[in-house]
Amino acid sequence: MNFKSIKGTRDILPGEVETWQRAEDVVRRVMHSYNYREIRTPVFEQTELFARSIGELTDIVSKEMYTFHDRSNESLTLKPEGTASVLRAYIQHNLGEQSPLTKVYYLGPMFRQERPQAGRLRQFHQFGAEALGSQSAQLDVEMMLIALDVYQGLGIRQFALAINSVGCQRCRPAYKQRLTYELTKVCDRLSTESQARVKQNPLRVLDSKDENDRRLTKNAPLMKDHLCDGCREHFKSVESLLRSTRTDFRIDGRLVRGLDYYTKTAFEITSPALGSQDALAGGGRYDLLVQELGGKPTPGVGFAAGMERLIMVLKKDRKDLTDRFRPDLFIASLDETTREWAFVKARELRTAGFAVELDYLDRSVKSQMREANRLQARFVIVIGERELTSGSARLKEMQTGKEAPVMLEALEKVLKT
Ligand code: HAM
Repeated sequence: MNFKSIKGTRDILPGEVETWQRAEDVVRRVMHSYNYREIRTPVFEQTELFARSIGELTDIVSKEMYTFHDRSNESLTLKPEGTASVLRAYIQHNLGEQSPLTKVYYLGPMFRQERPQAGRLRQFHQFGAEALGSQSAQLDVEMMLIALDVYQGLGIRQFALAINSVGCQRCRPAYKQRLTYELTKVCDRLSTESQARVKQNPLRVLDSKDENDRRLTKNAPLMKDHLCDGCREHFKSVESLLRSTRTDFRIDGRLVRGLDYYTKTAFEITSPALGSQDALAGGGRYDLLVQELGGKPTPGVGFAAGMERLIMVLKKDRKDLTDRFRPDLFIASLDETTREWAFVKARELRTAGFAVELDYLDRSVKSQMREANRLQARFVIVIGERELTSGSARLKEMQTGKEAPVMLEALEKVLKT
């Protein structure tokens, strides 16, 4: 039997993984520049945590979660997103008591049983950030800027930021009623999916991708035109901060997002370089969620971005970030004695911080040289009995082809220069 990776999961092989590492480095650098600290939460949580936060009626919770019962018959779920786990940890460890504002970021795998296609996987990776403890619109904009800084830091120039406000518990109920009333008029002509949503989650009908649904709801009322004073002010501040930071954006009154926890700001960043799954990142404010999960009332805002989609854009732009792993030195050896010497010397140099490779396959010197070339080693040294006896050998710089004698004792010093 030939085992294969599970549908919707991928191996990230050497050659591609370097691009990931470079992207992750940029993520960490940008996160640190905004003073976010890393948090790592477990891969699985109690199922109820996600049902309570993301929302029972969302696609994620109702159709896509990897839920299983463990041997103690507890219902567990592989995390479909990071926010719920971060909030659970925030409440569990009383992070709010240690400082009035908690700013954290994460990187890691998430799981959703969606129909796999380009840019959509069942195990995918996100980087994201959450800021808990402040209502400031500056943080809403900070989330957008972090994501944009990561893209810019990686040389991605083409993206579009769309923002909206989904209101709060004060203004949303009346708007919802109004929207439902309007949607009911066209309900029987809507797609089956939207028909179901009219009653359960009417706002989501607005961001249906179905052309016919869009036409039928063209004149439907939008939340952004029915905000209470507080939400309107907040939205204005977000817009104004985006302008002050010279950030291009557009307001999309139909942007709702597939998670139920949002209040006020919601945003999405898309890339024209991607196909139908064009969302690079999404996020928003969730002022009621900490309380909903059993914590003290604490406002919060955050975002998450797909790593696979980011890598796809980088590949399309032919951004070569591979920055191949290159050994500083390849030690080629002629026989058994020198092989052992090479092994010990390599260990010494590796401990001193150098990347060193040697031959483990008893190859001829010629084929060891070929291997050193393939690996793009900076230097190669060939060691035979003569070199061991004299304590000196020739060090070849691969790029220039230049050779120079070197005392074996002084190898470390020479590599440093
Ligand atoms: P989300 O919009 O569900 O939000 O996911 C964020 C990003 O993760 C998407 O824009 C996309 O790039 C990527 N993504 C989602 N699903 C998949 C998939 N099946 N395959 C590949 N990439 C995918 C959240 O997850 C929220 N937790 C964001 C947030 C944080 N809001 C507040 N704080």
